[in-house]
Amino acid sequence: MPLDVASVLSDSIAQLMVIADRRRIDIDIGFDGQTSVTVTAPPAELRSIFGNLIDNALRHSPEGSVVDVRLHAVDGQPVVDVVDNGPGIPPEAIDRAFDRFFRVPGTTAEGSGLGLAIAQMAAQRNGMRIALSNRTDDSGAVCGLVARVHLRSA
Ligand SMILES: Nc1ncnc2c1ncn2[C@@H]1O[C@H](COP(=O)(O)OP(=O)(O)OP(=O)(O)O)[C@@H](O)[C@H]1O
Ligand SMILES: [Mg+2]
Repeated sequence: MPLDVASVLSDSIAQLMVIADRRRIDIDIGFDGQTSVTVTAPPAELRSIFGNLIDNALRHSPEGSVVDVRLHAVDGQPVVDVVDNGPGIPPEAIDRAFDRFFRVPGTTAEGSGLGLAIAQMAAQRNGMRIALSNRTDDSGAVCGLVARVHLRSA
């Protein structure tokens, strides 16, 4: 069944508003597009992918910051970006972040280290892929994380 990505994103965000409010985080929604993007996947799996990534952005970044959720095209392929202003993930840990139970040492937010493993498995089952990258400011310092969902893995 083809799912409208923007509407699943809106649902996922709505479900997480309690956390956003508690942490005074403003979620900016950028659903670029007159043309709608659809994917074929079980709704629960797509919600799990977006929900886990947005949950991470809300829990692992500072109170009062901003999280951006964008649906746009990169190199002609549709992607969803969840962008935060948190500490990012040390480069040597970024691949392990998808391992079950892995948490970056020193992580203070509650959690069990399963969210990214679950999200990546759900993505791969449905021909998608999640990639993490740190954001850097003009001086080269890490200033947040981008969790990108490639909606078509090719
Ligand atoms: N947006 C982010 N900013 C900084 N660190 C992050 C972010 N997302 C994930 N991480 C790091 O990667 C680890 C693994 O993330 P994952 O979602 O798998 O587990 P979790 O968030 O700790 O627990 P949960 O099982 O509740 O999701 C986190 O513990 C954290 O150290
Ligand atoms: Mg998590």
